[in-house]
Amino acid sequence: MRILICGDVNARSGRESVNKYLPELKSKLSIDFVMLNVDNAAGGFGVNKEIANAFFAAGANVLTGGNHVFDQNGAIGLLESEKRLLRPFNMPISTPGRGVCEAVANNGKKVVVIHLLGQKDMPCTANDPFEAMNQLLSKYKLGQTADAIIVDFHAELTSEKNALGHFLDGRVSAVVGTHTHIPTADERILEYGTAFQTDIGMCGDYDSIIGMKKETAVEMFSKNYVKTKLTSASGEATFCGLLVDLDDKSGLAKIVKFIKLGGKLSQSIT
Ligand SMILES: [Fe+2]
Ligand SMILES: [Fe+2]
Repeated sequence: MRILICGDVNARSGRESVNKYLPELKSKLSIDFVMLNVDNAAGGFGVNKEIANAFFAAGANVLTGGNHVFDQNGAIGLLESEKRLLRPFNMPISTPGRGVCEAVANNGKKVVVIHLLGQKDMPCTANDPFEAMNQLLSKYKLGQTADAIIVDFHAELTSEKNALGHFLDGRVSAVVGTHTHIPTADERILEYGTAFQTDIGMCGDYDSIIGMKKETAVEMFSKNYVKTKLTSASGEATFCGLLVDLDDKSGLAKIVKFIKLGGKLSQSIT
């Protein structure tokens, strides 16, 4: 089975890159399952129903959020009604929505997607992601009760993300980091077969400060006496995603390849 996991889609230019590249990639590379992180899809802050539906129409199977997933009006109702859109699982138990999705891939295989939030240096609090995974993996067994298990860990620290990757090595198909909007060059298969990348970056305009207009963001950092309003950058986006081939029997990874198409980080996929 072949899966594609894309980093934080940022604002209009990020959405345009999804429309431009995803449908063609999905058919050309015979991708069975697509995950998009949509935490910043609506102007940089969360997602709404119309945008979520456009992602599904473009070929996404499951969408994940993060610390901004409740930012838009109507987000609570959307998260309660749309099972394919996740908020982090380890938010307080009374939080609307869900953090796990049992989905069916285009090839009929059962894919479990789990979305988690980091605990270190994040703007909102979360419960222990390691304990949460132990709890979930007592139910989902890779290669037995699930053909694939994919974890989106929305976190700031590279160390925390690497710790979760190794903690889950051999028990899930893939662990990818999201949230920082900067892709790390460490995509690999860990010792016991889990695909891993510390951060898969963003689908967004990289001529920016993590997706925000560079002039205003530079002002924010360099003149802390000025109150700056950040707005999303609107130049051509780079479409970023981790492509993973899984063994059909074990659900573990065989091949990983990081894709960057268009915009400032563009590369060829050959
Ligand atoms: Fe983000
Ligand atoms: Fe985030």
